[in-house]
Amino acid sequence: MDSLEGMRQLKQQGIIVDLIVTDPPYEITNTTPGGKSEFSKSIEGAFKELQEEHLTQGITKEYLDCMVSLQSKINIYIWCNGSQIPFYLDYFVKERKCKFDILLWNKTNAIPTFYNKYLTDKEYVLYFRKGGYCKPNSYEDAKTIYFSPINAKDKKKYGHPTIKPLDFIKRMIRNSSKENEIVLDPFSGSGTTALACKELNRRFIAFEIVEKYYKISLLRLQENDQ
Ligand SMILES: C[S@@+](CC[C@H](N)C(=O)[O-])C[C@H]1O[C@@H](n2cnc3c(N)ncnc32)[C@H](O)[C@@H]1O
Repeated sequence: MDSLEGMRQLKQQGIIVDLIVTDPPYEITNTTPGGKSEFSKSIEGAFKELQEEHLTQGITKEYLDCMVSLQSKINIYIWCNGSQIPFYLDYFVKERKCKFDILLWNKTNAIPTFYNKYLTDKEYVLYFRKGGYCKPNSYEDAKTIYFSPINAKDKKKYGHPTIKPLDFIKRMIRNSSKENEIVLDPFSGSGTTALACKELNRRFIAFEIVEKYYKISLLRLQENDQ
């Protein structure tokens, strides 16, 4: 279901979540400010696919208000692209007076396109907290940069175009929650956060609007039982 509706229902039931780890749709446009298409024909096709699957529209402040309303202490990891950073910083740092940190996934096998630009070899995770905590138990868990190739195998196996690395998400969950606490992911995709919670004995609530991804998540979680 739409997580805005889902989160409103949680609120009505008085549910409080200890940690939020989420990967909302990135804000991606296919046009320049002048309205011209920015992409080549092949990339334009991939963009259209992402657009149809709710993956390019970003999110509104309403979703953030709902997330915050479900926490007694703000403790939130949000994946995003560079152009969304100002939006999230404005909301969490300026308005909500949170502390923040920036974590990075460095993709070690990024496509080698660098004509007039840097490589597209990283994804950001912004960590916001006010009362929330980050207590890494090892030097490895305290690192802010995670190096791994784009996981083409999982991408293909689970059919989600923006699947994120399970081990990196597990690091965030280990550092900022305890066993049996509740973790929320309002934009669950193929269920990576849910699976990480299952493996780390955290309870989880996850929302996904596209039915095929919801079904993939269930299969992924069941596969993990075997
Ligand atoms: C970037 S993907 C998450 C991928 C996930 N981290 C993974 O590893 O599979 C964002 C997901 O949010 C879903 N989504 C978009 N808008 C939504 C909404 N309003 N409510 C619930 N899910 C939504 C999309 O269908 C997409 O699967």
